Amino acid sequence: MAYAPFDLTGKVALVTGGNRGIGFGMAEALTQAGADVVIWGSNHDRNIEAEGKLTRHGRRVLAQVVDVSNEQAVVEAMAEAATAMGRIDTVIANAGVGYGAPSFVDMTTETYRKVLAVNLDGVFWTFREACRHMVERARSGDPGGSIVGIASLAAIEGAARNEAYAATKGAVISMVKSVAVEHARYGVRANAILPGWIATDMTAGAQENKAFADKVIPRVPARRWGEPADFGGMAVYLASDASSYHSGDTLVIDGGYAIF
Ligand SMILES: NC(=O)c1ccc[n+]([C@@H]2O[C@H](COP(=O)([O-])OP(=O)(O)OC[C@H]3O[C@@H](n4cnc5c(N)ncnc54)[C@H](OP(=O)(O)O)[C@@H]3O)[C@@H](O)[C@H]2O)c1
Repeated sequence: MAYAPFDLTGKVALVTGGNRGIGFGMAEALTQAGADVVIWGSNHDRNIEAEGKLTRHGRRVLAQVVDVSNEQAVVEAMAEAATAMGRIDTVIANAGVGYGAPSFVDMTTETYRKVLAVNLDGVFWTFREACRHMVERARSGDPGGSIVGIASLAAIEGAARNEAYAATKGAVISMVKSVAVEHARYGVRANAILPGWIATDMTAGAQENKAFADKVIPRVPARRWGEPADFGGMAVYLASDASSYHSGDTLVIDGGYAIF
């Protein structure tokens, strides 16, 4: 008999920031593995474009305009998604912004607050509403669920000129571990993914920077930028029954950068 725990047929996965970049890479792999998918983004046009591409894989796709830094929007959208799709098995809190500053001493309070609002408040509300749904489902006799936070190498390595960003990513790892311990009794597991240097809109500046190309990318043992599609396998694994005993972990996907 074929080994089939990676088959996501019948499961529903929600990806915040799923309309482009790493989030889209994960959402696409999830639909290709059989899942129905919900994507969140704050930009309507990007959502529509992504929804069109994802629908080609033949699964149900729901795109919702949600600003994750707005608590009420997150609460309402999660409830709407659960009703529309019937259930939510996996929630990936991926939406994030990367605002830094020329130096720490120049970092404004406005920048700090903006980064925290999306990368930390947004993850907190997304996780809490996901857990509410999963705990309620478990209490009605249907336990299980996978919570995933997208952190960053910035959480564990010094990220110069990005202190606010780094702090939010460290916080995501801590939150994931707390969620994992508290919700294991409901069959819910929680893990964090730490991407390295990935070619997306967020890193557009670095991709065009010659010094970066000369000094940083050659230090990636895989000798290339990561791509959004490089996150598909991990998303499918964490959404699948193959990872049912895997919780509280931090999974680095960086082409070997952190260990070189
Ligand atoms: N790229 C890297 O090298 C790298 C490295 C480490 C970690 N990460 C992390 O990986 C995650 C994805 O990054 P990426 O590189 O794929 O970035 P990206 O290409 O800039 O995409 C960001 C995504 O987040 C969404 N988003 C941003 N603000 C939002 C808000 N307030 N509410 C809802 N959605 C929002 C965007 O959709 P809208 O535009 O529609 O809002 C978009 O889908 C982030 O958490 C980032 O910190 C990236």
